[in-house]
Amino acid sequence: MNLEYKISKEDFYRKPLRARMVEENDNIKASFTHYLYHAYSDTYRRGAVDYVRALLTAKFPREDVSLEVAESALQYYLPELKKEVPFAEPENPTFTFIDLFAGIGGFRLAMQNLGGACVFSSEWDKYSQKTYEVNFGEIPFGDITKPETKAYIPKGFDILCAGFPCQAFSIAGKRGGFEDTRGTLFFDVAEIIQKHKPKAFFLENVKGLVNHDKGKTLVTILNTLREDLGYHVPEPQVLNAKRFGVPQNRERIFIAGFCNASDAQAFEYPRGSESRKAIKDILEEDEVSVKYYLSNQYLNTLVKHKARHASKGNGFGYEIIDHDHIANAVVCGGMGRERNLIYDHRLTNFSPVTHIKGEVNRQGIRKMTPREWARLQGFPDAFKIVVADAQAYRQFGNSVAVPAIQAMGERIVEKVIAHGN
Ligand SMILES: C[S@@+](CC[C@H](N)C(=O)[O-])C[C@H]1O[C@@H](n2cnc3c(N)ncnc32)[C@H](O)[C@@H]1O
Repeated sequence: MNLEYKISKEDFYRKPLRARMVEENDNIKASFTHYLYHAYSDTYRRGAVDYVRALLTAKFPREDVSLEVAESALQYYLPELKKEVPFAEPENPTFTFIDLFAGIGGFRLAMQNLGGACVFSSEWDKYSQKTYEVNFGEIPFGDITKPETKAYIPKGFDILCAGFPCQAFSIAGKRGGFEDTRGTLFFDVAEIIQKHKPKAFFLENVKGLVNHDKGKTLVTILNTLREDLGYHVPEPQVLNAKRFGVPQNRERIFIAGFCNASDAQAFEYPRGSESRKAIKDILEEDEVSVKYYLSNQYLNTLVKHKARHASKGNGFGYEIIDHDHIANAVVCGGMGRERNLIYDHRLTNFSPVTHIKGEVNRQGIRKMTPREWARLQGFPDAFKIVVADAQAYRQFGNSVAVPAIQAMGERIVEKVIAHGN
């Protein structure tokens, strides 16, 4: 029986089938979606064939599905399987990059805007993977600390991008190099750089990395990159997103590294500009749902909470931001959402009946919406938000200010392209 013609395009994406087979191996569906865009890659082809074979076996449990049948089904359907996505790869890419700790693809957006093709992505969070897939067509690979995930990284890419989570590592009494970072996610980044020797890398992290463990953590990172891996790394700089066209006060440390010494010597960080956007420039145009408005009861709790903490010397709490000002950094967790409250009187049917809980907030104080957080991070409105609000806030809070990444990326890319491919 010609099994390959008995499946439909929809079967490739059907949830129950997919769910059953990916339980065992998370990476094969990632491999399948990567193959759709990089059909020249043998590594992805193997994973993609496994995926189709598992799919056919699940659909026809009594048949013995050979690799040949799976391969021919894959090739037969390939032209139709690429999904229409808002952020497809550029048609004639000028460089390649990989997207580690990809989140929802902030780096990817910026690097694609600069003409790059992403040849590998990794992000283990299921909800972020969902957002990533719907916007870029690819499901990122899972846990990057696993050798089997690293094995999928293709050879010969140009730039490694990673906004890696900063974990504490203690280097007391040690040399402060590669081996001392073992067990941290930076170690995995360094290992990938060592193996693949990209022309350049682009790392981003929280500003706190500068003074973490009295500066020793950053020294260890730089020792590793410079001395153990032999890269030329300009002194890192902290850049603020507000200078790159988004109304958000977000400071992050940026680290670039190059194979060529002259690239590092000639490297200049982007300065951005003073002209600033304000909150009013990124507010939703239409009335927002009543659920974003705070009840008086909740407002009172916030006021008391802030006063209590202020009296203890740590005044962190809610803040109502003026429309002409810029937002505090969006962050996930804690009081993240309450740090950027705004006045918004546009809700026309503001009555006790329409409010969801507690007393009515007659002042029109509300949280910013996920779309507004997306705009604060410089994500275009075409970027799809497909997860529940709690996840969306977490994802944008965890992400990067795309225009700042793009400005820095541009400086790195110009050096890489100057050397040819
Ligand atoms: C600071 S966020 C980076 C967000 C990303 N730059 C963006 O634009 O959305 C770090 C991400 O690393 C992911 N992560 C943490 N450990 C991981 C691992 N072992 N393998 C893959 N992803 C991991 C987290 O789920 C999180 O989304």
